[in-house]
Amino acid sequence: MIPLDEVSIYTLLRMAFVWQLLSFGVYLVGLLAIAAFFFDNFKSVVSIIKAILEPYFQPQLPQTLVEKFGKWAVITGSTDGIGREYAKELAKQGINVVLISRTKEKLIAVAEEIENEYKVKTKWIVADFAKGREVYAHIERELSGIPVGILVNNVGKMYDYPDELSNISEDTIWDMININVAAVTIMTRMLIPELKKQKRGAIVNLSSGSELQPMPNMAVYVATKRYVRCFSQAIERELAEHNITVQIVTPLFVVTKMNQYSDTVMKGGFLRPDVKSYTRFAVFTLGKSAETTGYWQHGLQYFFMKLSPEWLRIRIAHVMTRHFRREYLKNHGKKV
Ligand SMILES: NC(=O)c1ccc[n+]([C@@H]2O[C@H](COP(=O)([O-])OP(=O)(O)OC[C@H]3O[C@@H](n4cnc5c(N)ncnc54)[C@H](OP(=O)(O)O)[C@@H]3O)[C@@H](O)[C@H]2O)c1
Repeated sequence: MIPLDEVSIYTLLRMAFVWQLLSFGVYLVGLLAIAAFFFDNFKSVVSIIKAILEPYFQPQLPQTLVEKFGKWAVITGSTDGIGREYAKELAKQGINVVLISRTKEKLIAVAEEIENEYKVKTKWIVADFAKGREVYAHIERELSGIPVGILVNNVGKMYDYPDELSNISEDTIWDMININVAAVTIMTRMLIPELKKQKRGAIVNLSSGSELQPMPNMAVYVATKRYVRCFSQAIERELAEHNITVQIVTPLFVVTKMNQYSDTVMKGGFLRPDVKSYTRFAVFTLGKSAETTGYWQHGLQYFFMKLSPEWLRIRIAHVMTRHFRREYLKNHGKKV
């Protein structure tokens, strides 16, 4: 028979071992979670640094955007805001641009400005993506024969101001689905054969940092932007073997007419850059990172946002969009 004090020593040792094992398991899970979080948040910075250093170690690789992706880019929604600046930044790097928007006069003005300033070729196509299926045959005809190397799916639509779904017109909802979801999908599908033919290319899809969580009062907009993420990440894998880069860009607030509903946003500031500064940085990341907020301050903001749980972010978003709604209604003399 084993003496009582020996049994308790064995039991204690066994318990201590099990405790150690459990603690180790908890540490390991914690460590993996932290590593995954940091990888997720810093992979963009790491790939940008890698791309900056690459020319020093592999000078034989293509360096400029023209060498990497070719001479022509197509930018949707390119007469204003981020799209217009993308067109100018790409032109600055010697890339010919095809501008697509609704308004002919604005297209002509932007095309002339770009040709005069950067001595590249331009072409413009009038198209209203809100019309859905009917616009694409015309765009495809206009693009035929142009060796497009970069597609920037920029066009996007938000409500006039944040509001509850039941207050948003059916027309606005269909427009948003046609512009934010259909345009990025069909334009991408249309240009993939051309990019594959050239065995290189880049597709840049403008999502939004707001898609990090569902947002009350911006429900449809944010859901369409989540679609852009999901779509981009899937085709990024499909196209990688064809040497075609798919980049997802998720800006937070940028001072453009899309945010005209809020004086607070339009005032600009550290986290609300003007559109030129934002786009210069976003274009700098092209070919360097598959996913980016497009602006380093937005990267920091995104990092801290991600630290809090989704349920909390949804509640904070609700407070913020309610504030914007009130601000808009008050400024327009409407009943809050
Ligand atoms: N600004 C931000 O804070 C922000 C934040 C996150 C994400 N984003 C995303 O970034 C992208 C660009 O936003 P932005 O702020 O630069 O927009 P913006 O200033 O409102 O410019 C929109 C551009 O799209 C064109 N456009 C609008 N509706 C169109 C339609 N139905 N068919 C064809 N073209 C149309 C407009 O030109 P016409 O009126 O002449 O057609 C204009 O050139 C969007 O996808 C947006 O969701 C913006």
